[in-house]
Amino acid sequence: MEAKGGGRDTASIVAAAWQRHTVVPAFNIPYLPMMAPTVQALRDTDSFGLIMVARLEWVKFAAKSPEEVAGEYWRIGDRAHTRLHLDHVPVIDEDHLRVDYVDDISRALDAGYESVMVDASRLPLDENIAATRLIAGMAHARGAAVEGELGAVMGHESGPMPSYEELFASGKGFTDPGEAARFVRETGVDWLSVAVGSVHGAISSATRHEKKIEARLNIGRLGEIQAATGVPLVLHGGTGIRKECVLDAVRHGIAKINIATATRQPYERFINESLAKAQRAVYDAAVRVLREDLETAGNAGVLATCHGGAASGRTT
Ligand code: 13P
Repeated sequence: MEAKGGGRDTASIVAAAWQRHTVVPAFNIPYLPMMAPTVQALRDTDSFGLIMVARLEWVKFAAKSPEEVAGEYWRIGDRAHTRLHLDHVPVIDEDHLRVDYVDDISRALDAGYESVMVDASRLPLDENIAATRLIAGMAHARGAAVEGELGAVMGHESGPMPSYEELFASGKGFTDPGEAARFVRETGVDWLSVAVGSVHGAISSATRHEKKIEARLNIGRLGEIQAATGVPLVLHGGTGIRKECVLDAVRHGIAKINIATATRQPYERFINESLAKAQRAVYDAAVRVLREDLETAGNAGVLATCHGGAASGRTT
């Protein structure tokens, strides 16, 4: 299908990545000047990626608003290499407060976001399904793709994190394949964000500069979720996961991976010296992620322009 802003629509692009066992990186923009070097890195490596902002980035960082990010995107976004996505709009946020998520998401759709994530994962399953189904209906009616989340990808919460080793060994909060099948069937989401061992980079001002732990992934669990759901899966907390785990995850259903800390920390490290240095640091970090970590260099042509075979089924 044709996207409103021109070119192939985002659901077809992510479906094409999923079928071809490659991945669409989605880069967060917590500071508006990060967008230009991120787009440039995608263009220079000929990778296809999403440019995105999460609610917490206009509340706790300097993205200002979904409209500001969209305005910058529609000015400099490169349609051969990017689309605009709305990341985490939580129903209950990381400070355990209720959010007017329907209003945030409809504002973003008005501003031209082409896919949206509603994150109701802090709610019980039935309520998560109800909130996600509501947004799926609303976004699909406007031609936008929808991502939901099931399971607990930790890291954004205020307060101390449990030990990673304990978390990984116990599988606490990991997505359950049976629940995932029901969630996808009853909500109509295009993509499902899963919890299989990754964690978000910290965002509190006390901890946001710390180096992330090297996460691992439970590929067996991921394969079960993929078999149960049959839709493209999304990996959050994409910074600092062991490389062989990421590439294996892409072979087991991950078609979109979210990256924030890998480009945000270099920006914050250099911004007090100069904007040019900070933007250069973002560019270098994004190129490294694309070329070395995700190996997506050169995949833009095939994802953004090929026709046919989208949306349903893939050979595993
Ligand atoms: P990282 O900060 O680990 O890159 O995670 C980003 C993310 O998942 C945003 O939704």
